Formats: sequence, C-alpha cells, structure tokens
Amino acid sequence: MGYVKVAEADMIWPGEMKKFSLDQLVILLANVGGALYALDNKCPHMGGDLSGGKLEDTTVTCPRHGAKFDVRSGKSLSGAKIAFVNMKVGDAKSFPVKVEGNDILVELP
Ligand code: FES
Repeated sequence: MGYVKVAEADMIWPGEMKKFSLDQLVILLANVGGALYALDNKCPHMGGDLSGGKLEDTTVTCPRHGAKFDVRSGKSLSGAKIAFVNMKVGDAKSFPVKVEGNDILVELP
C-alpha cells in the first residue's frame, strides 16, 4: 500500500500519543522527544485501545491489562495481568513513519 498520510506534525506533541483511523486500521502515533513512531492501536492481547493507555519515555502501557510495549518497535516488554494471573503477550504491529513537510506518513502493508 505504501506511505499514507495519517496526520499533520502539529497534531501530536512530544510526550503525546493519539490514535488516527484509516480505512480498516487504527494507528497509534507516538511522539517521543520529537521522533514519531506508529503502532497498530489494537493491543495484541485482547484488542485494548492502546491510545487510552500511558506513554512513558518509549513504553506504552495498555489500559486493559497492563501489557507494555516498546513504541519504537512494538516489542512486548511485559505481559498482561488479569486477576493475579500473568499472561505472555505477543509484539504489537509496528509501521515505518516519515515526515514530509507538515505531513506524517505511515507505511502500511
Ligand atoms: S488487551 Fe491489552 S493487555 Fe489485555
């Protein structure tokens, strides 16, 4: 599919993350110190809305069961926890990002 415009650079400030809907995909954009990263907003555990979680440095925490992901790669850093039971969670889907002028573009499969 190639690079698709998802947002404009002034829509997301350092330390922020926001979701943007494309056709059938919701992309989570995160700005870490001016560098932009994109993940599938849907948590790979049970579909939690990652944009409702927390961004601390490069770590995104899912609001549903607390799984943590590295926003730079989507790599799972720690699993989910439900009622004292810890579960492994796979990596989140990550997409390449580039900025052209004021446009934030994400490369979709
Ligand atoms: S849905 Fe994200 S940790 Fe369970």
